[in-house]
Amino acid sequence: MRVLVIGGGGREHALSLALARDPSVQALFASPGNPGIGGVAELLPAGDPVAVARQVSADLVVIGPEAPLVAGVADDLRAAGFVVFGPSAAAARIEGSKAFAKDVMLAAGIPTARHWVCETPGELATALDAVTPPYVVKHDELAAGKGVVVTRDRREAEQHAAGHRVVVEEFLDGPEVSLFCVTDGATVVPLLAAQDFKRVGDGDVGPNTGGMGAYAPLPWAPAGLADDVAKTIVQPVVDEMAGRGTPFSGLLYAGLALTVSGPMVIEFNARFGDPETQVVLPLLESPIATLLQAAANGRLAEHPPLTWRSGAAVTVVVASDGYPGAPRTGDEICGVEAAERVEATTVIHAGTARDGDGRLVTAGGRVLAVTSVGADLAGARQSAYAAVDCIDIRGGHHRTDIADRAARGTIALPG
Ligand code: AMP
Ligand code: GLY
Repeated sequence: MRVLVIGGGGREHALSLALARDPSVQALFASPGNPGIGGVAELLPAGDPVAVARQVSADLVVIGPEAPLVAGVADDLRAAGFVVFGPSAAAARIEGSKAFAKDVMLAAGIPTARHWVCETPGELATALDAVTPPYVVKHDELAAGKGVVVTRDRREAEQHAAGHRVVVEEFLDGPEVSLFCVTDGATVVPLLAAQDFKRVGDGDVGPNTGGMGAYAPLPWAPAGLADDVAKTIVQPVVDEMAGRGTPFSGLLYAGLALTVSGPMVIEFNARFGDPETQVVLPLLESPIATLLQAAANGRLAEHPPLTWRSGAAVTVVVASDGYPGAPRTGDEICGVEAAERVEATTVIHAGTARDGDGRLVTAGGRVLAVTSVGADLAGARQSAYAAVDCIDIRGGHHRTDIADRAARGTIALPG
């Protein structure tokens, strides 16, 4: 089949690498892609996705990022007759609006934090009075993971809310898990659970980012977690969306906290997570194009069970100077080839570009996701960091503790 990937970040590079491994994929295209994706796919400039899909005669279109999904690109493509992996705009609201997502979760009866939607300072004060700090305040819009503050400082909570419609939530205490589920609107197939690192600094300090690293699988998580969550949390949400006449077909990503009372939902996303995709897909043995096509065609129930390779994967994000605030772009990226000579390591491109002289330069906040697979987390981690040490970007920064506690076995579940 001929597959078109829409997007150009690290997630789309990881998806493209996995798609390129599927023998049923005869031709792979990406729009706009990035210099890394150009190694496995033919790149087409960003443009009207329907026109691009026609140009390449796509048999399957995979939409990576949330913005085109929320904007209805999947609907446009389907209306033009294409087979699309990615939800409609109506279904992608589960990510686009936190208040809508909460409404769906309540209707589906799944465990999530109590919440208050606040539009006025008075409503905000009532909500902040009702919760026990830390305060969780979320902008009710897409914000690339940066619209949320978790703080004990009431002034900071108020300042974050100023000028926005916000959702205030009860704080959920426990390790976080990202679970990706492929769904066709009826059947739910979970992938491996992963963990990402949202804060910019070692030890989970500093502001939230889109994610500074990730690993999978989770040796500390309860056995059967993915299947349990798929059955008791994701399936009811998928059924609720179908019942509303807006079935969710695509990738439903559950962000969970494993609390004393069990897994509770922090948020849903309508697409693969970035950088978790970089560690989940390298471990998937089953051909992914076939899986995504089955979901897109509403035939997931007939798909054989997924198989996974043994071992573990770790990805470490190298970010540009200033990220997550105001990242500087245009800095030369050195050392990628040396990094890729490290065993079982791939340098995934997130925010990269070629300048006029053909040099690889930074083009975004998160620049690279250096990804290694190993027999276990400790081995994968060692390779990933050996490779990160080869990379040189002026002012570039990364966390040094990705998967550290998991590899050493010091993550404990509450209770
Ligand atoms: P979100 O964009 O909703 O995923 O929030 C970003 C991050 O903020 C999450 O990954 C958590 O680390 C944190 N967070 C959000 N909501 C809560 C909550 N109710 N309790 C604890 N932490 C939260
Ligand atoms: N890594 C978090 C996200 O993709 O939303």
